[in-house]
Amino acid sequence: MAEIIDGKGLAEKIKQDLCVRATEFEKKSGRKVGLAVIRVGNDPASAVYVSNKIKACERCNIRSFSFCFDEATSQSALIDLVHKLNKDPDVDGILVQLPLPKHIDERAVLSEILPQKDADGFHAVNAGKLFLGEKGGAVACTPRGIIELIKSTGVSISGKHAVVVGRSNIVGKPVAALLLQNDATVTVCHSRTQNLKEITSLADILVVAVGKSNFITADMVKPGAVVIDVGMNRGADGLCGDVDFNGVKEVAGYITPVPGGVGPMTVAMLLCNTVDGANNE
Ligand code: GUN
Repeated sequence: MAEIIDGKGLAEKIKQDLCVRATEFEKKSGRKVGLAVIRVGNDPASAVYVSNKIKACERCNIRSFSFCFDEATSQSALIDLVHKLNKDPDVDGILVQLPLPKHIDERAVLSEILPQKDADGFHAVNAGKLFLGEKGGAVACTPRGIIELIKSTGVSISGKHAVVVGRSNIVGKPVAALLLQNDATVTVCHSRTQNLKEITSLADILVVAVGKSNFITADMVKPGAVVIDVGMNRGADGLCGDVDFNGVKEVAGYITPVPGGVGPMTVAMLLCNTVDGANNE
């Protein structure tokens, strides 16, 4: 029977420390740390995520600037706002909630954010620094949170076989780079991978980010493995992960729940990136 990894509790502790750091910054600089959050359209999941991020800012003495655009907003209107925020001395971090509507080129918008203000770590400069192992760049929030969750178990990452299922720019690719930086042997699987079960069954650490309910079942998991479930699938029974929690918890050594696992850590790491950015100016 696996130990449940308490992401919510860990995120709370991190936010308490961040509140202290944000308050120290205010005393030193005479202004609050500031995060600008941009949302486009009416995606209900994005609305919930953004509202959680803004509430977390309030709790941590971080000033938030919230911008909501209509679904039909043009790419150039978004880029104009990003340019304005790049120049605003009260803004330390800029976040564009993804996904954006289909007519907008996400990469074109994200690449306009100043790398020093890139709270999500999605700019090519920051992603590049991560892959080169250069310090000082912002690291994507969910991957950064995943590493903290794994470390919280006391299981050492070095030398372990880590299998990542999913190759997105937001989670799969950056978490694979971070695991490699932590000296894991890393395998990345995706929708074209053959014999998936044979590979996941070898994982000491299994990170799953595919967006499919209950995709990973107990027969695909090595006994004692650390299982990190990044899925946030909304179904008739409410929120559910990519891992069949009830089955897999009987086999794994450690497992994150959904909700209460990766999600709260993503928010905590976003605030962490923002406070780090303010202190690096
Ligand atoms: N959409 C899903 N996850 C994320 C995230 O971490 N940041 C942003 N900006 N959008 C997302």
